[in-house]
Amino acid sequence: MKVTLVGSGYVGLVTGACFAEKGHDVVCVDNDPKKVELLRAGHIPIYEPGLEEMVKRNAVAGRLRFTQSTAEGVEHGQIVFIAVPTPPLDDGSVDLSFIEAVAREIAGSLRKYTVIVDKSTVPVKTGEKVAETIRRYNQHKADFDVVSNPEFLREGSAIEDLMHPDRIVIGVMSHRPVPLMRELYAPFACPHFILTDINSAELIKHASNSFLALKISYANALAEICEKSGANVEEVVNGMGYDRRIGRAFLNAGPGYGGSCFPKDIAAFIKIAEQLGCDFRLLREVQRINAAALERCYQKLQQELWVIKGKTVGILGLAFKPNTDDLRSSPAIALARRLLAGEAKVRAYDPKAMEKAREDLPAATFCASPLEAAQGCDALVLMTEWDEFRQLNLVELRAAMLHPFLLDTRNLFDATAMASAGIRYKSVGR
Ligand code: UDX
Repeated sequence: MKVTLVGSGYVGLVTGACFAEKGHDVVCVDNDPKKVELLRAGHIPIYEPGLEEMVKRNAVAGRLRFTQSTAEGVEHGQIVFIAVPTPPLDDGSVDLSFIEAVAREIAGSLRKYTVIVDKSTVPVKTGEKVAETIRRYNQHKADFDVVSNPEFLREGSAIEDLMHPDRIVIGVMSHRPVPLMRELYAPFACPHFILTDINSAELIKHASNSFLALKISYANALAEICEKSGANVEEVVNGMGYDRRIGRAFLNAGPGYGGSCFPKDIAAFIKIAEQLGCDFRLLREVQRINAAALERCYQKLQQELWVIKGKTVGILGLAFKPNTDDLRSSPAIALARRLLAGEAKVRAYDPKAMEKAREDLPAATFCASPLEAAQGCDALVLMTEWDEFRQLNLVELRAAMLHPFLLDTRNLFDATAMASAGIRYKSVGR
């Protein structure tokens, strides 16, 4: 089928590449000429495992191309996805101006029956507003339907998540676009093709992300209780996870969740509820616990160092999680900024995110290896659980440090191994 993605960011580019991989004829639109040029030259502006190869393969096969023109994209697509950013506003509500602008642009170019699909994470009732906007600016009075198809891609495993989705959620206002949406997703052979009304589809996204964040905050609240009761949070969540009704995933205690989705989606959901007259106090508590998780990590560091000013702290991992170069709402960046503000010296290492981090942390020293980051440190903090950190040589690490203290905010290491390497060790909930 002929498909268009308007917006070639994390979601649009991955979705377009996967549709092309499955044999569809895809056009990706972006309003940034530099990004379009970059993509046409086969370069990918984001790090996502497997994406560069998939984009190149499908561009060469002629199933994937890039343009700056929305009109060209609308002309091409039988199905046109809106995959533009929905960034948070200061009060936590969602900035829908990009969605509205794209809806108007699409409406101005519509000439044939087209299914317009909201892929971006949007507040409930946005689909209805998009439909109203297209009706209002539909110059050529073309026929169309608006559908909600929220994405559940995790950064670092986005291609895997789309190629093998747990479920495909389709929200409609009439039955007419359903056959086309079934044909689009048929090659993905997903067992759960969930057809529902458009408002429910939009809510599934915010409700799912908020629940995942709630699990994380629950684990972080448990971690504090475990520390004060001599229990081990890893043992507790492992025991919980065997109950299929609970599930082990997303119960890892740490420095708190970050990323471009959870903080934004939870703030948005609280605001959406408020605008509907509901006070989602539970989610406010999820936010509070999340902030407290990072604060507790900082306190552990301060307890060990007494005075932060003038000390050298090494940070292993800057991205908000492994297998991505994304720094948005990364706890590691927040911690580094707080240390720099406290006039500590920061030595940082991350396998993928350092280029982007240079702008965020101009005063930090960026190192070429974990060992270099540990050089002369009064403390070392593991913030992101990159696989390569699992193989660190603890004896070399100890030798490089001025004071042998490691704060492991991801419970990556084993306390006994640390003790035998002569490294003072603190972690989360253990
Ligand atoms: C999330 C959702 O998982 C995905 O379905 C949605 O489409 C987009 O938002 P993402 O933000 O890319 O994906 O990353 P995710 O893997 O969910 O991790 C989010 C944050 O939670 C990271 O900071 C991660 O370190 C943290 N996390 C995750 C924990 O602290 N503990 C856990 O057990 C799991």
